[in-house]
Amino acid sequence: MIEINKSTIASWDRFYRANFINSLSGFKSVCLIGTKSKDGIPNLAIFSNIVHLGADPAMIGFINRPKAAAPDTIRNIEETGVYTMNHIHPGIIEQAHQTSAKYDANINEFEEVGLHMFWRDNCKAPFVQESRIQYALQLADIIPIPHNGTFLVIGQLQDVYLSENLVDDTGFIPLEKYESITSLGLNSYYGTTLLKQLPRA
Ligand SMILES: Cc1cc2nc3c(=O)[nH]c(=O)nc-3n(C[C@H](O)[C@H](O)[C@H](O)COP(=O)(O)O)c2cc1C
Repeated sequence: MIEINKSTIASWDRFYRANFINSLSGFKSVCLIGTKSKDGIPNLAIFSNIVHLGADPAMIGFINRPKAAAPDTIRNIEETGVYTMNHIHPGIIEQAHQTSAKYDANINEFEEVGLHMFWRDNCKAPFVQESRIQYALQLADIIPIPHNGTFLVIGQLQDVYLSENLVDDTGFIPLEKYESITSLGLNSYYGTTLLKQLPRA
């Protein structure tokens, strides 16, 4: 085994360290989060620290970096209380990745990266038209994590939209059939294949 101790990690260049630590915790559920500011400006950004918090009520959380680093999505969510999550497939990886660039708050990132907004009457936030799995969330809570200035943003699931019905008869969504990708580190994206499905242990 190769041992990498805490002080070695602390001595690394910050981008090298960020890539290493980010990879360590595993493949991520990468999505595009769509929001709209109170002044009506749409915003789109890629997020990968997404976590299932419970199924009843259906709650999904994500980690937002400190506001100085990633200000727009969290501010729009605080202002409007709604946001959308949109899965990414191989055809839109470049555009999705580009949303991580720092754009001014008055720039519409959909237009900037070449993705299309899709609006639904019952949701004030934009969906990504190209996305095959889309869902809307209502803000439930924003929990600050004082240790590093990040935030756990918790949403209650509203409506879900699938490009086609591939849900199996147990309720399982075989994401690989929609070609939903996963990410690792800060700039690597992967397709997935099912290795094994087991009965309840
Ligand atoms: C693959 C990938 C995953 C990312 N995941 C997150 C994340 O989980 N949380 C976060 O705050 N930023 C994440 N980012 C960075 C944001 O996309 C970036 O800070 C973006 O500009 C935030 O935009 P906003 O100011 O519109 O919210 C990620 C970037 C990439 C490339």
